[in-house]
Amino acid sequence: MIALVTGGNRGIGREVCRALAGLGHTVLLTARSPEAAERAAGELDGDVVPLRLDVTSADDVAAAAATVAERYGRLDALVNNAAITYDTWQGAVSADLDVVREAAETNLYGPWRLTQALLPLLRGSAHPRIVNVSSEAASLTNMGGGTPAYNSTKVALNALTRMLAAELRGDGVLVNAICPGWVATEMGGPGGRPVSAGAAGVVWAATLPDDGPTGGFFRDGRPLPW
Ligand SMILES: NC(=O)c1ccc[n+]([C@@H]2O[C@H](COP(=O)([O-])OP(=O)(O)OC[C@H]3O[C@@H](n4cnc5c(N)ncnc54)[C@H](OP(=O)(O)O)[C@@H]3O)[C@@H](O)[C@H]2O)c1
Repeated sequence: MIALVTGGNRGIGREVCRALAGLGHTVLLTARSPEAAERAAGELDGDVVPLRLDVTSADDVAAAAATVAERYGRLDALVNNAAITYDTWQGAVSADLDVVREAAETNLYGPWRLTQALLPLLRGSAHPRIVNVSSEAASLTNMGGGTPAYNSTKVALNALTRMLAAELRGDGVLVNAICPGWVATEMGGPGGRPVSAGAAGVVWAATLPDDGPTGGFFRDGRPLPW
């Protein structure tokens, strides 16, 4: 399998790369800093290929798609992991909308643009999978106040997940939103569970069998309320 992971240089994304490579898959470890991609890929065992990819850059997205097309001619799994702005310092009533807009560039438009660019290559796979790394913070059922940029952009990512799953069902592309749980990373802070636990559910969704679910929202392989 050939998998592409965004934000693969640290945190959950790096661990997803490590785990997928450990299963024998070819992993394109992408990061917005080419040096960070090189460094992280060099630290991991297996077939891990570093690639520069800032998901907010249309040029980077086009270049990454061209590289995958040229080197492999197809893509089996796209893991939209990169995200920013867990904005605990503000609420919806007074949120800085520039912050919300900036978060959307990475958390929503990034995965959307990248998915569009890579779709021809995913359609070339016999078992295509798209994993959108979301958060229970996006659950409308449990929605409270706070972290407005994060929550609203992850809600929109969940909506994108549903639309893509419906539109791509006929092509056999399984598209799911995955919450990794609270994980001890730079974003999650100390106290969360280890990256291996957070990454496991993402790897599960990237390696689903053909009769696996699509259009779902899961943590640890179990459904979450939308
Ligand atoms: N940690 C948690 O408790 C938790 C809980 C629920 C959901 N999640 C989700 O899990 C995913 C990974 O989170 P994490 O905790 O591993 O976060 P993290 O440690 O903050 O890592 C975020 C990653 O995203 C990358 N990134 C940010 N902007 C980017 C851009 N424009 N283009 C490409 N890469 C970019 C970062 O790269 P740089 O190194 O260049 O900044 C970094 O590799 C996110 O989608 C997050 O929302 C996390």
